Amino acid sequence: MNKKRILLAIETSCDDTGAAVLSDGRKILSSVVSSQVSVHQKYGGVVPELASRKHIEMIVPIVTEALQQAGLSLEKIDGIAVTQGPGLVGSLLVGLSFAKSLAFVKGIPLIGVNHLEAHLSAIFLEENPPSFPFLGLVVSGGHTSLFRVDGFGQYTLLGQTRDDAAGEAFDKVAKLLGLGYPGGPIIDELSRTGNPRAIPFPRPSVGKNSFDFSFSGLKTAVVHFVKTFPGPPGSFPEELLRNIVSSFQAAVVDVLVQKTFQAAGHQGLKRVVISGGVAANRLLRQRMKEEASKQKMRIYIPSPVLCTDNAAMVGVVGYEYLKRGIRFPLSLNAFSNLRF
Ligand code: KG4
Ligand code: ZN
Repeated sequence: MNKKRILLAIETSCDDTGAAVLSDGRKILSSVVSSQVSVHQKYGGVVPELASRKHIEMIVPIVTEALQQAGLSLEKIDGIAVTQGPGLVGSLLVGLSFAKSLAFVKGIPLIGVNHLEAHLSAIFLEENPPSFPFLGLVVSGGHTSLFRVDGFGQYTLLGQTRDDAAGEAFDKVAKLLGLGYPGGPIIDELSRTGNPRAIPFPRPSVGKNSFDFSFSGLKTAVVHFVKTFPGPPGSFPEELLRNIVSSFQAAVVDVLVQKTFQAAGHQGLKRVVISGGVAANRLLRQRMKEEASKQKMRIYIPSPVLCTDNAAMVGVVGYEYLKRGIRFPLSLNAFSNLRF
């Protein structure tokens, strides 16, 4: 039997410092994520310079912890996978420089990973993963993109947001209502007891034949609705707040479900994979499952901890490239807009 390949994976594309150790790109030996929510909370969003500074502080302890939890030393690592982009350049550079230093000093192969490919591949860490091809939706704070996925490294972009990403819309609406950061999980929770039909917010569409999204109009509709009430959002009655966020969430989910299955149908695909932070949303998960069963398609959604940013998903992709003999040079750079 071939020796298992052990990978160390590092993720610092935004505001989470992540490190993971994987065996053969499928089994998580450890996965550690340090969230920076407490740093950015008071600003209502990620402050890039503070994010880089926090990564610099956390990268050594987080990688050390991941190795310790896996019970392995660097000598046992066969490859280092690191997010190369897209993301905040200052944040990416911390993980990338650290990974390059380790690779250089220890002579370990280095693999640069696309953050979106990592999100699309998180599902391979679950039992009964999909076979190719499938329709993949990445729905996060930075992206809302639909891909046809024919294999690792084989992606066709079918549509994407023309303005705000879905997670960004959640975060901005939560900020507007004074609910805190990040908005997604807060709105998810508050919506449980709200009425999703209380306010008929628009379901923005950019045309029947396009798989692009647009969420800024929906956000503006929430702004206008809020302005019709006297006083700051902080003074709103609890029930009104719950109804606003619940109705907003229902509108986002409707659009995501509709476009995703429309794209899958158009491509003749029977398998749908969703991932990214917003895929942790309860209503979205439920509605995607219902629609898949209605359309006789199969839906695959990673567990919530694998939907939000983590390094384990980076390791899945790194392993696939390492296996194929692909190595990246130590001159590897970070790119905010890295494409497939
Ligand atoms: O994938 P992710 O951790 O980072 C990026 O690559 O952007 O996604 C973060 C985004 C944030 O906008 C956050 O508000 C949203 O995912 N999010 C959620 C939920 N959990 C995280 N949105 C809706 N419902 C959730 N439960
Ligand atoms: Zn992400």
